Amino acid sequence: MILTVTLNPAVDKTCQIARLLPGEVNRLEKTFSVAGGKGINVTKILRQFHLPAAAMGFLGGYTGRMIEDAVMELGAECHFTRIQGETRTNVNLLGADGYVTELLEPGPEISKEELANFKKEFEYCLEQSSLVVLSGSVPKGVPADIYGELAARCRAEGRRVILDTSGELLREGVKEKPYMIKPNKRELEFLAGCRLPDQEAVEEEAKRLAEQGVCKVVVSMGSRGILYVDREQTIFEPAKDVKVLNTVGCGDSVVASMAMSEQAGEEPSMALKKAAALSAANAVTRESGKIPMDVYLELL
Ligand SMILES: Nc1ncnc2c1ncn2[C@@H]1O[C@H](COP(=O)(O)OP(=O)(O)OP(=O)(O)O)[C@@H](O)[C@H]1O
Ligand SMILES: [Mg+2]
Repeated sequence: MILTVTLNPAVDKTCQIARLLPGEVNRLEKTFSVAGGKGINVTKILRQFHLPAAAMGFLGGYTGRMIEDAVMELGAECHFTRIQGETRTNVNLLGADGYVTELLEPGPEISKEELANFKKEFEYCLEQSSLVVLSGSVPKGVPADIYGELAARCRAEGRRVILDTSGELLREGVKEKPYMIKPNKRELEFLAGCRLPDQEAVEEEAKRLAEQGVCKVVVSMGSRGILYVDREQTIFEPAKDVKVLNTVGCGDSVVASMAMSEQAGEEPSMALKKAAALSAANAVTRESGKIPMDVYLELL
């Protein structure tokens, strides 16, 4: 089983509006809500390929229930920790004039007890999982070294772990040498502490991380492609040329694809080809994490 951890999930609500007028009554034309959060996106993709998956993290209030229902409907095991606070709803207002206005909630605060409950549940789930995916940001009350701590537990139990996060969470997480990380270029620059102006600089930094003990460094570079570095080899897979509608969740698609390739024991070169095809297929639909299989197979 693949275990995904989403500590800071959200309901993503997209609304169409003719034009947003501050201070006025604004009527929305159309709305649709989906369960969001990076790890949940990964679960969604894994289930489309019929892989056994379990999801965990913090959920609270009515929005929390909505996410739990959505994950159950995917046919994934739910091991979320209930919290007093309410899970966020992030609102995206799509104006007919092309402007996108985002309204992001601050999100809940996690108590010490809730954090302890999560860690207990993590131990239980870890036992039944061969691969763990740690994705995204964390809510208030969760320390910056949480991913480092979880990655260390994975290593101690001989479980592979993929870390996909940013900023301090990534820096602290990398200290515990996760099996695989999937930074984008910006996140890699944060780790480097400087701008990485060209491909050579990106490769150098990825190699430095591999030397430090991260087994597999997968750098996603948006419409350019994906770079893979381990101690023995460096591979670059160019991105697929597709008609892009929405690139949100492309990073999650790379993570899900790499996780599936790990489970299948595939070579890195094949894994990268699949990841490039899957992430491009994600970009041609509006809903993130919803893969049009025909497009994916054709690209592959
Ligand atoms: N415009 C595009 N055309 C084709 N493929 C794309 C495009 N944008 C992204 N991809 C594919 O998706 C992969 C991941 O995208 P990106 O590097 O933007 O991830 P990210 O910044 O982590 O995204 P997010 O965190 O929002 O999911 C890229 O390496 C590439 O293979
Ligand atoms: Mg990302």
